[in-house]
Amino acid sequence: MKARVSRIQTAIYTVFISFHFSSVLAQVQLPTPAWVPPTADSGTLESPNADRPNPQWSTLLGELLYFYDAQRSGKLGAANRVPWRNDSLTGDGQQGGVDLSGGYYDAGDYIKATFPLSWTLTSICWGALEYGAGYQAANQTAYLDSALRWGLDWLIKAHPSPNTLYVQVGDDHRDNNYWGGDQNIPTQRPVYQINDTNPGTDAAASTAAAFSSCSLLYANRTLVATATIPPAIVNTTYSNTLLTHARQLLNFAVNATGGMQRYQDGAQLGDAYPSTGYYDDLALAATFLGMSDSSATNLQLAKTYWDQGGLSQGDIALDWDSKVAAVPVLMSQVLASSQALSSTQDAPFWKSKAEAMLDQVVAANGPGVLTAGGLLYFEGTSNLASLNPALNSAMLLVKYAPLATSTSKMNDYLAFAKLQVDYVLGNNPMQVPYVVGINPNSPQNPHSAPASGGTDIANINSSPPTEAHVIYGAVVGGPDKNDDFWDERKDWVQTEVALDYNAPMLYLAAWKVATDGNDPYYVRLLSGARDSHRPPGSSRPCSDPNDFCSTNNPYEFTQAEQIAVAVVMGLGGVIVLVLAMWYAFECWRHKDTKPVTKPV
Ligand SMILES: *[C@@H]1O[C@H](CO)[C@@H](O)[C@H](O)[C@H]1NC(C)=O
Ligand SMILES: *[C@@H]1O[C@H](CO)[C@@H](O)[C@H](O)[C@H]1NC(C)=O
Ligand SMILES: *[C@@H]1O[C@H](CO)[C@@H](O)[C@H](O)[C@H]1NC(C)=O
Ligand SMILES: *[C@@H]1O[C@H](CO)[C@@H](O)[C@H](O)[C@H]1NC(C)=O
Ligand SMILES: *[C@@H]1O[C@H](CO)[C@@H](O)[C@H](O)[C@H]1NC(C)=O
Ligand SMILES: *[C@@H]1O[C@H](CO)[C@@H](O)[C@H](O)[C@H]1NC(C)=O
Repeated sequence: MKARVSRIQTAIYTVFISFHFSSVLAQVQLPTPAWVPPTADSGTLESPNADRPNPQWSTLLGELLYFYDAQRSGKLGAANRVPWRNDSLTGDGQQGGVDLSGGYYDAGDYIKATFPLSWTLTSICWGALEYGAGYQAANQTAYLDSALRWGLDWLIKAHPSPNTLYVQVGDDHRDNNYWGGDQNIPTQRPVYQINDTNPGTDAAASTAAAFSSCSLLYANRTLVATATIPPAIVNTTYSNTLLTHARQLLNFAVNATGGMQRYQDGAQLGDAYPSTGYYDDLALAATFLGMSDSSATNLQLAKTYWDQGGLSQGDIALDWDSKVAAVPVLMSQVLASSQALSSTQDAPFWKSKAEAMLDQVVAANGPGVLTAGGLLYFEGTSNLASLNPALNSAMLLVKYAPLATSTSKMNDYLAFAKLQVDYVLGNNPMQVPYVVGINPNSPQNPHSAPASGGTDIANINSSPPTEAHVIYGAVVGGPDKNDDFWDERKDWVQTEVALDYNAPMLYLAAWKVATDGNDPYYVRLLSGARDSHRPPGSSRPCSDPNDFCSTNNPYEFTQAEQIAVAVVMGLGGVIVLVLAMWYAFECWRHKDTKPVTKPV
């Protein structure tokens, strides 16, 4: 059960039941005038040649970053590029006596959540360690720096002392009941923390990974020999600050007095982004810190957690909750890139783990399978947001491909990744490129409270009839397993936007800018192509309960309720079993003394 079910459905189903100066100065000078997305029509212009950088891929990269501007909280400052966004919730943190203003809204609503944010930042920095050259060629370095600092500077505020980390601002249930613009958001916002006595191992480790991976980027350290870091972003002072936070947080994760536990248990938090476990987060953080600190001890720590968590049998679908699949890929990159560390771990072991998972991905005969239209689909993980696990798998395939043990494997990995990217960018039965504003066929109704312009949660689709603002560059949840996509605002599973949805596409776009001169798939789509490929009906049918259709189901259980139901049913089962055994035993015991006359 993933977060957004309980988080956003609460909002939906409750209906049925009831000019400043920036406080954060980016180091890299932002261009004047600012780069802003062109209109969607420009996504049909074929490039004149196959030279790199390709202008369409460069624009896509810029738009994917621009989405993060649209998600900003707090005082936006003069650098704000999104004309329809305003300063908001500048008093965040007051309830805890801390300043937690700024940072990012996590999705289509207004909570701020550290766990998925830290994964998003990790993913972006990790990607820039390989394809920083893509950002540079697309003239997006300043916006990369600005997007990262907006998140990292907030994480620094959220980590005011070594063993304290704020993990959420805002109450998921109440905030999700608010559907409206950024000027009237309820300001009574609770803050949730983890600390030495109430730790949250996964959130602390995941935030350590974000600080550590970004510290490498600001330190001009690359993960692959051929990579270059955009020179303007390099800043040793900032890198050292990030590294200090990373070390403290891994220490906190490992050594807290309260032991190890999931952060939602430590923070006594609702069910916004519940984590399944912490070994994956620990292993990923220890690997990044192994590289940051050139520390064989940390790499060995990663191996210890890999073994303790039984991660060889872990989930091969990658997302904000499950990072198992990222560990052997990153470890293989670290060992290959560092002479000093190369012999401190069994590199063939890690490569065999990486290839075992990636081979399963490209074979696509379980747990991930291809939809009829060609999207990699993991039953379970993909039901709540189909594009994200597919794009994350594509990202891992591209990262690992140069290290593959054979050329044919390398080619298979890259070819499979390209198919997924093409699918997401329009080579699908709907003929929809699933990035808002990039092409006339893009989604028109993303589930985003600020972009929608609506305030009537009971009539979320029709009020207003047309989405008020285009939230350029947002990757949406995606189609269902039949490749159908209805583009309804109400249907948060399909149309919601989120920080973590954009991250793998950003990596893949930077890769394309750096390596491919040909246009992205959507450029060839005719205007109006989506209109002739719409699924039947006006909204998504809810035939499959696993699809969490928000349109027809009157109510879904929250996670707590599901647990309660499971416990009650489990207890019921035990009682039935005990009674049955007792009955069988009694029958056996009385088998010779059973009354021969039937009762009347
Ligand atoms: C490096 O980053 C620090 C911390 O954000 C900032 O104060 C400083 O101005 C930056 N240095 C340069 C050369 O931009
Ligand atoms: C980047 O900026 C340079 C200099 O202004 C310009 O010549 C080039 O076309 C730009 N590239 C892209 C992809 O926008
Ligand atoms: C920002 O403020 C303007 C002016 O009050 C308003 O029209 C607009 O809807 C606001 N934006 C959002 C996202 O609420
Ligand atoms: C980053 O490292 C590369 C390779 O060592 C070097 O050529 C480059 O000058 C460095 N950049 C900065 C800004 O220090
Ligand atoms: C945990 O504490 C021990 C003992 O102080 C220390 O040696 C170790 O480095 C700490 N672990 C981490 C990951 O910081
Ligand atoms: C530690 O965290 C718990 C859970 O968030 C909280 O109840 C407690 O007040 C915190 N302790 C301190 C000293 O702030």
